[in-house]
Amino acid sequence: MELPPQVKNPVPIAIRGAGYYLPDRVLTNADLEKMVETSDEWITERTGIKERRVADPAMSTSDMAICAAKRALANANMQPGEIDMIICATITPDMQFPSTACLIQKGIDARGAFAFDVSAACTGFIYALANAYTFIASDYVKNVLVIGAEKMSSITDYTDRNTCVLFGDGAGAVVLSRTDNPGHGIVDFILESDGRNALWLQVPAGGSRIPASTSSIGERMHYISMEGREVFKFAVTAMKRTTVRIAERNNLKAEDITWLIPHQANKRIIDAAAAALGLDASHIHFNIQKYGNMSAASTAVGLAEVILEKKPKAGDHLLLVAFGAGMTWGSLLIRW
Ligand code: ACO
Repeated sequence: MELPPQVKNPVPIAIRGAGYYLPDRVLTNADLEKMVETSDEWITERTGIKERRVADPAMSTSDMAICAAKRALANANMQPGEIDMIICATITPDMQFPSTACLIQKGIDARGAFAFDVSAACTGFIYALANAYTFIASDYVKNVLVIGAEKMSSITDYTDRNTCVLFGDGAGAVVLSRTDNPGHGIVDFILESDGRNALWLQVPAGGSRIPASTSSIGERMHYISMEGREVFKFAVTAMKRTTVRIAERNNLKAEDITWLIPHQANKRIIDAAAAALGLDASHIHFNIQKYGNMSAASTAVGLAEVILEKKPKAGDHLLLVAFGAGMTWGSLLIRW
């Protein structure tokens, strides 16, 4: 199989600040036991999830993203007017259009920026970071706000036990700029997709193929539909492949990875990716037990948590890996 492309002549582009937001409301496995035929034991054993956050009905994806973005700007000690570009990775936009990124631009009053969304499901935050990198590397922009934000509860069918136990809501954000420190910041990324199995994970209705109608609503077609077992098998292979490849081509061994920040779909998938690299569990950042699968927000919140709470030191390696609907998958390596 062909090797994924690699950035030529990398330039140092680093994270200047990070922030995240999680709704207050907690939905536990015990709560779900009252809603569908499931058990805390089944959910914990098969997924690693104990609880997830759920936004209030009035709160949208952009509302959560704006909170995370404001926190990232404050952490970077920057003003919204300094931001040139805003990218929001989401599959739960506030509405079909305008983009959620433009609503965030309004919410933080970043008048000098241009803004757009990236749709790559759970891999979206990695795709968005790679976009930010290439725009800054080409000198088209200086400072970029990248957000991963999802209100997964808005597309989750709480009568379907196959999916409703998995998902949660949240948002994470970072600000990226050039640095004077060669060899630091984003040092490599791999982006891949395979549309042949695009329909394994989908929200069938509400788009141009099946516009919203009383029958589409009656058939619950505005919720996530998922071929869980197929996705699981694919995810294990894709996550192992991208994790090992990015480490190998940067001459990194397991002991060189300070924090693996994986997409949090299923603890068993994360364990398989880490085992392929020989990485000890103490170097994996887990938040699946608290937040479930927040799609593009999982790696965004994970990265912000590692930066703010684990406080990486110069030279530490942070490795983001994810897979998602599309099917998409990828990885991104940061040298702190
Ligand atoms: N509680 C109790 N039993 C359940 C539940 C539940 N919540 N959900 C499914 N079951 C049952 C099934 O009906 C099945 O019963 P059956 O054998 O009588 O048919 C049994 O449990 C086993 O089902 P499996 O599908 O084999 O269970 P598996 O071990 O594969 O776990 C899971 C299911 C957790 C969904 C797993 O397949 C998985 O993690 N898949 C990947 C999901 C994923 O990563 N999705 C990404 C979405 S992100 C995005 O891009 C939007």
